[in-house]
Amino acid sequence: MNNVSNSRLISPPLSELTKKSGKPLKLAVLASGQGSNFEAIAQSIDSGQLNAQVAIVIYNNPEAQVSERAQNWQVPSLLINHRDFSRREDFDQAIVESLQRAEIDWVIMAGWMRIVTTVLLNAFTDRIINIHPSLLPSFPGIRAVEQALAAGVKITGCTVHLATLAVDSGPILIQAAVPVFPEDTPATLHARIQIQEHLILPQAIAFCSENLL
Ligand code: GAR
Repeated sequence: MNNVSNSRLISPPLSELTKKSGKPLKLAVLASGQGSNFEAIAQSIDSGQLNAQVAIVIYNNPEAQVSERAQNWQVPSLLINHRDFSRREDFDQAIVESLQRAEIDWVIMAGWMRIVTTVLLNAFTDRIINIHPSLLPSFPGIRAVEQALAAGVKITGCTVHLATLAVDSGPILIQAAVPVFPEDTPATLHARIQIQEHLILPQAIAFCSENLL
């Protein structure tokens, strides 16, 4: 049983979700790490499956590989280092100013490892999407994959949801289930989860653009 996904059971194919779309959605991606989910969004746009444009990638960690990926896709990227701010609210305010300058419609937290405040949430009410590597509400917070392995679950997965003040909470948009194998390590399980993340994140964005605008 490889690459099991239930996402199609609860969401139509991406092409059906996007065919009604008019003007491309202007997206911002917030990312802290590798940026494979950013790349999945970029590929969905490139293939015509998602009617959107990533106008900016904001990253908070100078080492984040997402900046190279953004460069490869010719997407502008901006480092806003959280270490330069003493308050979370001031960090979020700097982000909001960049997002407003870029006239962003939707904000996608794709591996954004910062706790968000009302400063960001109120500036983009119900327009912030988060992806998390577990079947929420199970295993919120950091090390979700390790938490699932430690709990001994046989099925885990990933969730795309609207962001709210509580970490990894908020209305669920799409989930995909992923089997846990006895020989799994955090790395092997995370890799299997990420295959599903790359499918459901573009689906969720398309769903939002059709149904929540
Ligand atoms: C993804 O697995 C995402 O679900 C997770 O970070 C990874 C980023 O991967 N997010 C969280 O844990 C948020 N709580 P990527 O940088 O390759 O897109």
